[in-house]
Amino acid sequence: MRGENPNPLKDDFLRYVCQTSAEPMGVEVERADGCRITDRSGKTYLDFISGIGVANIGHAHPAVVKAVADQAARYLHVMVYGEFIQEPQVRLAKRLAELVSPPLSVTYFTNSGTEAVEGALKTAKKYTRRKTLIAFKGGFHGDTQGSLSVTGRDVYQKPFRPLLPNVKFLPFNGIKHLKAIDRHTAAVIVEPIQGEGGVNIPDDDFLPKLRERCDETGALLIFDEVMTGMGRTGRLFACQHWNVLPDILVLAKALGGGMPLGAFIGRPEIMKTLSIDPPLSHVTTFGGHPVSCAAGLAALDFLIENKLPDRAERLGRYMMNQLKKLSQIGGVKEVRGKGLLIGFELKNAQLTERFVSYCREAGLILGWTLHSNTVVRLAPPLVMSEDEINKGIEIIRAALMKAAS
Ligand SMILES: Cc1ncc(COP(=O)(O)O)c(C=O)c1O
Repeated sequence: MRGENPNPLKDDFLRYVCQTSAEPMGVEVERADGCRITDRSGKTYLDFISGIGVANIGHAHPAVVKAVADQAARYLHVMVYGEFIQEPQVRLAKRLAELVSPPLSVTYFTNSGTEAVEGALKTAKKYTRRKTLIAFKGGFHGDTQGSLSVTGRDVYQKPFRPLLPNVKFLPFNGIKHLKAIDRHTAAVIVEPIQGEGGVNIPDDDFLPKLRERCDETGALLIFDEVMTGMGRTGRLFACQHWNVLPDILVLAKALGGGMPLGAFIGRPEIMKTLSIDPPLSHVTTFGGHPVSCAAGLAALDFLIENKLPDRAERLGRYMMNQLKKLSQIGGVKEVRGKGLLIGFELKNAQLTERFVSYCREAGLILGWTLHSNTVVRLAPPLVMSEDEINKGIEIIRAALMKAAS
């Protein structure tokens, strides 16, 4: 009866779908296209976080939708990863090899970012036959046990210990600590720009020095570009800002154009280790699903043809300038970022919480960061128009004034 149960879908969501936080955003999605999400009541939200860095070419892009429909009509899952020749997988791997600098030319596809991180860590251990891993404080690499073991935040690790042994954490950007990388180190894993850590951008010499130290010691360097990849920071891959190439590049999120897809890409001799001693030492059933690869290829083609990394750089600069002007209102501690990955740091956690919730009420979806409760992450689709950005900034201005009053 009306009134008794005004929102059965929400009730069922809370009851039957495992909850991951005490206060889920709870937007009831009816549809999403371009830079907007519409809920079941017809309210439209402007999306300033792109499903946490996924919708780089916007939601449900027609080229992706067509690629999905065409591939679904051809075949879905046919065989576990690596056995059959599936055209969308081969074409996407070849395209990635053309776009990532040589000699990184061999791709292993996964279902998600964390699965790609797991694969990269296992590959590094198997290839180097070494046991130690180095990661960075404030880093985030996913929530399965291996990825969590290299995620640099105690509060998330604690309930799940014991995790992987032999992991050392160094301060992000701490060049003088890099001597901890030695001949026992199998791999060093790092996000070129820390996302969940609060959009932390390293000094210009950090990644080059890190590359140098890995070369001296024979440790493999893994760049986790799950968040920063696919044009988000103003280059196709963030590592291109510093001209530093990893031994293994990890991608996910926007790679699939809205479909689940991850990948790790390496030099042929490194990637070959997965097929020998013993063979089949790292397999996946659904990794590199043909529909996801077809979607990823369509998204990548659109991204490159429309020069979206350049657009991200240009719009990012504009957006940061506009956001910096809001500092006059009060409550803003810092605005930092590269391209369309921007950290908007406020003065305290309560203010940040109020601010994010006022924005949502006014129709703007923003992201939080897992490791920092004062940094709001802004990562709109790279196709967003200047008008839409201005509209979002206006909402931010009003929400900030309300939250700071
Ligand atoms: C840098 C980074 N690595 C890995 C992951 C894990 O990716 P997934 O959620 O697809 O497992 C994330 C997710 O937010 C991420 O930001």
